Amino acid sequence: MRTNIRSILLIISGSVAAYKSLELIRRLREQDVQVHSILTAGGAEFITPLAVSSLTGTPTYTDLFSLRDEVDMGHIRLSREADAVLVAPASADIIAKLANGMANDLATTALLATDKPVIVAPAMNHRMWEHASTQRNIATLRAQGIHIVEPESGDMACGETGKGRFADTPTLLAALNGIEPPSLPLAGKKALVTSGPTYEPVDPVRFIGNRSSGKQGHAIAAALAQAGAEVTLITGPTHEPTPAGVVPVHVQTAEDMLAAAEEALPADIAVCAAAVSDWRPDVVSAQKIKKIDTGEEFSMNLIPNPDILKALGQHAQRPSLLIGFAAETNDVLEHAKQKLASKGCDWLLANDVSGGQVFSEDNNTVWRITRQSTDAWPTASKRAIAQKLVDEIIFTLQPKTQDTHHG
Ligand code: CTP
Repeated sequence: MRTNIRSILLIISGSVAAYKSLELIRRLREQDVQVHSILTAGGAEFITPLAVSSLTGTPTYTDLFSLRDEVDMGHIRLSREADAVLVAPASADIIAKLANGMANDLATTALLATDKPVIVAPAMNHRMWEHASTQRNIATLRAQGIHIVEPESGDMACGETGKGRFADTPTLLAALNGIEPPSLPLAGKKALVTSGPTYEPVDPVRFIGNRSSGKQGHAIAAALAQAGAEVTLITGPTHEPTPAGVVPVHVQTAEDMLAAAEEALPADIAVCAAAVSDWRPDVVSAQKIKKIDTGEEFSMNLIPNPDILKALGQHAQRPSLLIGFAAETNDVLEHAKQKLASKGCDWLLANDVSGGQVFSEDNNTVWRITRQSTDAWPTASKRAIAQKLVDEIIFTLQPKTQDTHHG
């Protein structure tokens, strides 16, 4: 049974059936469904976060008050990024909390914060299931539009027989299959992203490069793809893996990057996040340059590289939304405003690299500069900045209604 959805948030609560959710994760992963997971304190009595993470391939979130979890991905985002939230197995306790709007741990907070379809698959002792309180809570959830995957009848782990067994994996997949795939906000849009450094060869063993990690550009490509865009990621050499759903084009030099960017046109959106080497040696030696030939000192003539962002800005097929970055060490905003004008782009994300750390750090502080405005974005992970950028892109490209009173 194939599911329509591309990603789910799986909440595993305290039930002896928790181990069965591992089988469900495996089946979902086989279908390329991305699984983020929350293991409640009760769930963690039965299975470990490590077992869950090793199957999902993503971190398992366990505690609302864990600073690492919240910094990594806040509960609001966690609950909204997925196409659906599945509580499986759902204990009587989590069902009662959800029915009453309680939010005293990560799982219940995410459940209250989500704007996505919620599916609840109960698993508990049959008397607990039949109890008037549980039945009232289930009726409340149904009335709220939450889909309940009925538990099954049979022998239970506690030795009793009755209704309360966790539904089997095909039934859970069928329930997920009933969910309409969300219409993604950038579906039908083409995007190109440049990322990473460029390497400009000096001779067969040496090059001029820089410390760009590609983290920011790759995170932007990932977020654009998640929003449904068709993404070409033109990247210099990095250790970053190619994000899911993105078409990579691997290049070394600025000239190759420009050619690949032009090849990727037409595009609706272009984000130039690459740290392109501004210069390259005018002559590339076919053989390794030897000290014996150069003497003690050696100098090289450097010539300018093409400016990819500027070239896209002047291109006959200029992307409708062209976004650049500006890495500055001083007078950040002033330089960035000049750069916005000289490169002919629509937005510039400026960051202060005076600390010298930005290339490998996960966190980044940026200002978004447009022709009309400058706004400071709070310091956040490169992934969170990528998401914010994509949210702004979605907002800007969405068809505007006639009514501009709110805009
Ligand atoms: N950029 C580009 N091609 C280049 C140089 C820069 O596409 N040859 C893009 C970068 O991807 C970034 C923006 O231009 O989006 C600004 O890069 P930055 O290094 O800050 O500016 P430079 O134009 O190189 O200017 P300077 O180094 O003098 O600050």
